[in-house]
Amino acid sequence: MRIRDPIIVTRLAELDVELQHDAALAKLTSLGIGGTTDLLRIKKHQSLPDLLNLLDVNHVPHKFLGGGSNLLVGDGELPWVVLQLVRPEPDVVLDGNFAHVDAAADLGRMITFCAKNDLGGMEGLIGVPGTVGGALRMNAGAYGMQIGSYVREVKLYRAASRTIEFLRGDQISFEYRHTSFAPDDMMLAVILELPSKPFKEILQGIRICNEKRRSSQPLGQKSAGCIFKNPPGASAGRMIDELGLKGLSVGDAQISNRHANFFVNAGHATAKDMLALVADVRERVQKSFGVSLENEVVVWNA
Ligand code: EPU
Repeated sequence: MRIRDPIIVTRLAELDVELQHDAALAKLTSLGIGGTTDLLRIKKHQSLPDLLNLLDVNHVPHKFLGGGSNLLVGDGELPWVVLQLVRPEPDVVLDGNFAHVDAAADLGRMITFCAKNDLGGMEGLIGVPGTVGGALRMNAGAYGMQIGSYVREVKLYRAASRTIEFLRGDQISFEYRHTSFAPDDMMLAVILELPSKPFKEILQGIRICNEKRRSSQPLGQKSAGCIFKNPPGASAGRMIDELGLKGLSVGDAQISNRHANFFVNAGHATAKDMLALVADVRERVQKSFGVSLENEVVVWNA
């Protein structure tokens, strides 16, 4: 979708929003898949209520993009514009055991920065690509921990009230890869309370998690992490593996040979290829195990 109206273009500049025409979502997502649309880069949180009002009044549909690492975007010209926060400098400020983090901060860099200042707890998430906002929205977790356990306050743009609000951690429910945020809420910043730990000890935990991840996941390939959520008490990866589906492909969309719940873009895969592979696997698992797999990856398909 292209914003052409000069009045909107002028107003965007007044709101300090950078407009990039025809941005390729394939370049903004870890899967390397996705068509083109206008990208609106937001430099100030305060401009969000006016920006969203401007888009609504002019009937411009929009979506919020974080780090693009858990996302499968449709092909071709996309029927909505994409909003993304510009990362401020600094993006993490420490105050005792509290880390004040901007949603646009890189998750891995935030974990390492806190570690260097003797704040731990997040070791399990090292190696998970994406922004802190994205991790927060979906309650990213690994190796027995989840980010939600450390959240003390969230600053967000609430689409329902069209205002910027602050929520305490205990006002938010954090479940397995799910939170009580509304789909159109936009994460802006978070305060995490992290346990004190000596850097050396955190580093050891980080090394162990890195090693586990390297040995079981296709880190060098384009993916969106796990495609399906694990059903209660079972492992989607193990079920797909047991069906002998590793390496199965549709076009360049392929089930990783290393981990069967990672679907990789082995070249020039399209969303159509990837979605066909996802549907095929879901059907086979349903037939063989009687289990309906739910997407873990977020799909933006017009
Ligand atoms: N397994 C297989 N074959 C495979 C993959 C896994 O037999 O191809 C078996 C493993 O041997 C193991 C079991 O399945 O016994 C579970 O595998 P793994 O330890 O890799 O964990 P997972 O349940 O597949 C989950 C998360 C990952 C997270 C890891 C580590 C989900 C959907 N996945 O994977 O998160 O990194 O645990 O904690 O919850 C993600 O969120 O995108 C993601 C990759």
